[in-house]
Amino acid sequence: MDSGLKQRKRVARIALPTAALLLVGGAVTVQSIGSAAAAETTLRAAAANAGLFFGVAASPGRLTSIVGQEFNQLTPENDMKPATIATSSGALQNTGNADTLVNYAQSNNMLVRGHTMVWHSQAGALQGASQATLNTFIGNALNRWGNRIAYWDVVNEALGDNNTGSRRTQWPHTLNRDANGDGDFFDTGDTDVIRDSFIRAKQVVQAGGLTTKLCINDYDVEGLTVQGGTPNRKANALYDIVRNYRQYIDCVGFQAHFNDNPNSIITNDLQANIQRFADLGVEVHITELDIDDDLSNNDIGAGQAENYRKVVRACLNVAKCTGITVWGIADSESWRSSERGLLFTGGSGNYQKKAAYTAVLDELNKGRVPVNPTSPASTTTPPTTPPTTPPVTPSVPPTTPPNPTPGCSATVSLNSWTGGFVATVKVTAGSAPINGWSVQLTLPSGAAVTNAWNANRSGSSGAVQFGNVSYNGRLNAGQSTEFGFQGTGAAGNLSPVCTAS
Ligand code: G3I
Repeated sequence: MDSGLKQRKRVARIALPTAALLLVGGAVTVQSIGSAAAAETTLRAAAANAGLFFGVAASPGRLTSIVGQEFNQLTPENDMKPATIATSSGALQNTGNADTLVNYAQSNNMLVRGHTMVWHSQAGALQGASQATLNTFIGNALNRWGNRIAYWDVVNEALGDNNTGSRRTQWPHTLNRDANGDGDFFDTGDTDVIRDSFIRAKQVVQAGGLTTKLCINDYDVEGLTVQGGTPNRKANALYDIVRNYRQYIDCVGFQAHFNDNPNSIITNDLQANIQRFADLGVEVHITELDIDDDLSNNDIGAGQAENYRKVVRACLNVAKCTGITVWGIADSESWRSSERGLLFTGGSGNYQKKAAYTAVLDELNKGRVPVNPTSPASTTTPPTTPPTTPPVTPSVPPTTPPNPTPGCSATVSLNSWTGGFVATVKVTAGSAPINGWSVQLTLPSGAAVTNAWNANRSGSSGAVQFGNVSYNGRLNAGQSTEFGFQGTGAAGNLSPVCTAS
């Protein structure tokens, strides 16, 4: 946590009795994107309809029935941090609370985000550790919960405050070395704790055949600009990191602790910033959302609700923005309780919905169809430094024209580098609605798929088949969705064939 945020913190923690858990299975019933179904009455159902998760941060003492009823994703607020679960050698300890949260999530069909492995704060016994020890911890944490954790924040808050765009200077970033003194840590001879931690995490995922996705998470990176229209150098620095290390990083978290700090405001270019990260092929998540009630300075509640609505809309308008997590249930239980930043009042399991809750639910129920076609376009801000490892070529236009199959068509865009590539496949329904799709394409000899997102895959080389997942199969006439995959070798010219069902 940065010192600025720390100063803003008001500790008002309440000891909660653990209420009975809601153990009804209630699958994450995902329906169509933009369907005309009746409005849902819970955040999780409305989000699932729109093709994203809506989650909450919690500790075991907060697992009252509302958690499983309203949310379909859970982030341990503190119980998976190194301060709790790491020994000085990188072994695991005190995993009881984390297990309780993971078990609860599994019983309630919720995804889990592991939070977090490599962080300058709450490092506990790991503080000051070498990269080798960090790697031991990374391996132990990933393997401890395996696929029960869908997303892990491998690196948290690596960038400094005050919109400098620089890395932090305290441990673990003291491990960094800029060998050639060119001002970045991307060169082959450099040492970069971000790169080395992600390389280790990716090795563990691949060795274990895990589907866990590896994320980098930070705050004040949400907009393309900060207050006054100044470029958001911290966001640009994060963009450069993801672009350089794309082969190891699957997802980006925008914490979104919005308050009256000039660098932490909601800008009109939030959506465009989400989009430029999505264009790199990563999933984008809003990971720790809370919004100062006084941000708009015009009323109590209504301005906050409108700001929540704007954030939800910005995510909904980008297909690869696949989840939003609020940082707690009720204002009184928040790390910034005096700012009334969450969706509920009350406490101890007795919660009342705020205007912000209704705004979020209503917006989720509108689905992914943009309500304001004049909202900011996907304007990609040039990265501040060119990528060096690996040299990712700029996004190229689709390599193939739409396939003439009547039910659906597919096009592929490629980002390639020496030895690898990321493909983004756009699936578009024809003149009638479809209930599902599959896309087949044939990779050239020497190319192989290593992982895919937003699709079920069969095969990894030669003829490879991708089918819709639960939330992106149903498309209205002319509607599109995207999935992606990463591969090794050279992709060549891909000719996808789409079949609708
Ligand atoms: O559990 C102890 C309790 O036994 C003790 O009596 C009490 C005395 O202060 O402290 C309790 O621990 C506190 C813990 O929260 C659980 O409530 C810690 O002092 C307190 O520092 C800790 O704060 C957490 C903070 O991270 C630490 O940096 C907040 O709950 C948590 O919401 C916050 O979360 C971070 C994310 O991980 C990263 N992004 C920013 C976000 C907000 O700071």
